[in-house]
Parts: sequence; C-alpha cells; structure tokens
Amino acid sequence: MTRIPSHDITPESLFWQRRRILGFTLAAPVASVLAACAGPDVASTDASAPTSTVASAGSVTTTTDELSNPLTDYETVTGYNNYYEFSTDKERVKDLSAGFSTTPWNVVVDGMVAKPRTFALEDLLALQASERIYRLRCVEGWSMVVPWTGFPLAALLQLVEPTATAKYVRFETLNDPVRMPGQSEPWYEWPYVEGLRLDEAMHDLTLMATGVYGKALPPQNGAPLRLVVPWKYGFKSIKAVVRITLTDVQPTSLWMAASPGEYGFFANVNPRVDHPRWSQADERRIGELGRRPTLVFNGYKDQVASLYTGMDLRKFY
Ligand code: MTE
Repeated sequence: MTRIPSHDITPESLFWQRRRILGFTLAAPVASVLAACAGPDVASTDASAPTSTVASAGSVTTTTDELSNPLTDYETVTGYNNYYEFSTDKERVKDLSAGFSTTPWNVVVDGMVAKPRTFALEDLLALQASERIYRLRCVEGWSMVVPWTGFPLAALLQLVEPTATAKYVRFETLNDPVRMPGQSEPWYEWPYVEGLRLDEAMHDLTLMATGVYGKALPPQNGAPLRLVVPWKYGFKSIKAVVRITLTDVQPTSLWMAASPGEYGFFANVNPRVDHPRWSQADERRIGELGRRPTLVFNGYKDQVASLYTGMDLRKFY
C-alpha cells in the first residue's frame, strides 16, 4: 500500500468541506438521526504480544498499524471527535471541552468483586502502560488509525478480583452537566453507559487509554481515562470513565436505550451486517480518498473470533 500522509492528499479544509457535502456531519441530536460511533485486531504490531515501549511524550514508536496502515495525523485524531457531552458537532468538541478539568479524578470499581475499590487516577497511571496502535471504526462509516497509550483493562480488573457470578462489566462516564453541558440536552439518558461481557473485558486487546500519540489524553479524546475496544464500533469506547461495575446483568448502553433497533450490545464491526440506514460494507479512512472495505472484527478476527463461537453475529449485533 502506498503510504501518503493525509495532508498530501487533500487539503484539510477541502476534506472537511467534502465530508459535509457527503452528509457525514450529524444533524439534530435526536435518537432517530443519531449515528453513534464505536470502534477494533491487534496492538502495535501483534495482538498476542501487543505491548511495546511507552512512547515518550509527543512521539510514537511505530508509524503504521500491523497491516501497514499509516497513522491518522494527530490534528485529526484530536480535532474530529464524537463526544456528545460537549457537542454533536465533531469539529467543535475540541474547543468546547478545552477547559474540562480532570484533577482530581477517581474511578470506582465495584459490584461483583471481592475487593471493591476507589482508585485515584494516579493509582491507575502507575499500572504498566504500553503503546497500542489500533484502528478505530466508527459505526457512521469512517475510520482512523490511532496510537494510544494505556494499560489492559484486565490489569485493573485483576486487582479487584471479579467473583464467579460476574458476567458483564458496565462502564459509566462522569455525570456533571455543569462541566459537560451536552448532558443538559434531553435527547439521551445520561450518563453515557457502555458494557462488555467479562471475557471481552479481560481480552488483552481491551485497553484503558490514558494517552494518545505519546501525550496525555486531551479532553476531547476522553481524558483522563477512556476505554478502547478495537474490534467493536467506536461507540463502545466510552470516554471519561468514573465507574466500572461488575454485574450478572447485561448492561443497557446509552445507544441501546436511545435506538434499540439500531444499536446492540455487542456491536462487533461486521461488514456483512448493515446499519438499518446505511451499509457497513466499507468505510472512509480519514485522510484517504475513496472508501476501503471494512474488515470483519475490524481486522482483529484472528484474535477475537473465538470469543463468539456458536453465536449468530447477525442476531447478536
Ligand atoms: N464516550 C462518551 N462518554 N460520549 C460520547 O459521545 N462517543 C463515542 C466514543 N465514546 C462518545 C464516547 C463514539 S460514537 C466514538 S466514534 C468514539 O468515542 C470517538 O472517539 P474519538 O473522539 O477519540 O475518536
């Protein structure tokens, strides 16, 4: 594949103009028109051995994912964001979230665990971090390649010792309409909630990101801590997490509640299952011209397909 930096292909302003013409920009924030994004195979080089060194501030150790896809540039990763707590306009999220304070920050981990605990962010930052280059595939039909830094969710869950009854993990974003003005909008059931099956949560690809491009995570990308599940649509990758609860009940996510006919619990990237209002067969990699085929499990099939043996992935979207 020819690797051409996005700025060599289309000037940024023309690119965004074109996207608007193509109709990707979200309209009114109502459930009937929502187009949540969520996000998918391997770490920096190999999913089964995904950790490399932590990138030094502002740098990355690798410039492509394991499929030789070039990284999406930093300005786009941090300038084109889905974060409804701040805005439904992707290009305004950065500015509107700029003053969002993340200190102090605590994360409660509770429910069906032997050792429930409230972690200060500093405790979590002490967990061993690594760099992971993951494709992010939004359910809206666009994608990026992002170099995250963070720690495996499994490392955190092991500290609280899930009990034998725990089957699911429920995640919750901060609920603070003063700091997150979008939460005053009545369209959604705040706070943003997401969930994983416990085995998905324990999978080595499942990351709690604290940084991007070797820098601390900026507010617009979910500072100070966000989930990244690379084989699922981007909407599963919940931002600004404050609570993680182990449970035996399948969590209902914000998107499932908002539009149950369109968004399911599993939300695995699947080019053969269309969204009710558009095809999922291909995607627009931001920075490229044209569209490229969407990969089953976003290209992470070898690593995660075994989690779903025997399941009808059309039915269990
Ligand atoms: N988390 C919260 N709390 N609120 C959101 O609106 N949007 C989701 C996900 N996590 C969202 C969220 C969607 S739809 C996508 S595609 C990704 O975040 C986008 O992540 P990014 O802005 O870092 O690319």
